[in-house]
Amino acid sequence: MNEFHIPCLDLKKQHQQIKKEIFEIFEKVYDQTAFSGGAFAEDFEKSYASFCRTQYAVSVNNGTSALHLALLALGIGKGDEVIIPANTFIATAWGVTYSGAMPVFVDCDLETWEIDVSKLEEKITDKTRAIIGVHLYGQPFDIDAVKQICTRHKLYLLEDAAQAQGARYKGIPVGGFGEMACFSFYPGKNLGACGEAGGITTNNEVYYKHLQSLKNHGSNTRYLHDQVGYNMRMGGLEAASLTVKLKYLDGWNTRRRYLAKKYQQGIRNNKIAMQKQPDWAQSVYHLFVVTVEERGGLIKYLNEQNIFPALHYPVPCHLQKAYGNLNYRQGDFPNAEYLAANCVSLPMYPELSDNEIDFVIECLNKY
Ligand SMILES: Cc1ncc(COP(=O)(O)O)c(C=O)c1O
Repeated sequence: MNEFHIPCLDLKKQHQQIKKEIFEIFEKVYDQTAFSGGAFAEDFEKSYASFCRTQYAVSVNNGTSALHLALLALGIGKGDEVIIPANTFIATAWGVTYSGAMPVFVDCDLETWEIDVSKLEEKITDKTRAIIGVHLYGQPFDIDAVKQICTRHKLYLLEDAAQAQGARYKGIPVGGFGEMACFSFYPGKNLGACGEAGGITTNNEVYYKHLQSLKNHGSNTRYLHDQVGYNMRMGGLEAASLTVKLKYLDGWNTRRRYLAKKYQQGIRNNKIAMQKQPDWAQSVYHLFVVTVEERGGLIKYLNEQNIFPALHYPVPCHLQKAYGNLNYRQGDFPNAEYLAANCVSLPMYPELSDNEIDFVIECLNKY
């Protein structure tokens, strides 16, 4: 057995490196008892809006709530339809379902694995209100192409940027292209809190104010509730950890790009296919996913070398039992189904060493 042990994601290394700084800010939160929303959440909102070059950012308790509230802020609900890709983490669909609307799935492109723009218009009905594009694995979808369709059919555009903090589309950070963009700061994300957290960016003051009220029991003034609201504030400790980590994000993303390039240039095995990256998409490689047929063999072989890949995601949304009532069938979205059946997520995190990734590549090429 070799000297390596290489998981798909290792959160410990990063958190050990910044432990002192994080604990210092935690002490401040503690001393101020600013545990729910408050000054630390507001500070993070300002820095995150500036990072995304948007006017506003709203901190919330997780990325699923971000999607839910963004749809509510658009007035979307019962009787409406929202189009989303079939190959995304299920939470994109949860956001739609929680709002009361119905998710309508669309296939992905076979090469970029992003929402297939050519199939969007056939999904539009007189009930369609919005399209949510997902920047899958950290790579932006073709925003301009989706936006054109939205404009033509008077639909809202939302970005699900849960996996893409710092990614750029045509050189501009994601987060400000649609009505709103929804982020997850789940610990495993490129920018992950010490806890659960999420956020929404927007350039629209009306949405911003509405979201701030919705996440805070429908209230702008204490104990006065103008609408039915939710308790979806971000915690102070989570916000403080994000403020510390945001300073490192560009550096971490640069390291991820470097590692991704090593995979792209180093993997020479025609059994293994990678996500096609158009010129306009600058991914932040939240995940580095490849496809390989009969992946069980590759996974077993890698495990024997002490390398532990993961699967994102083995069952596409339309075939999940939770959406059985929508009557989708195997074969409805062949590309999303192919991806689900053949995807393998290779190790990817900024602390992955050159020696480790070189070893992974060597093993992949021997397979
Ligand atoms: C594409 C996508 N959308 C939404 C979410 C939901 O975020 P959270 O887990 O913070 O609720 C995630 C992450 O988990 C995600 O990857």
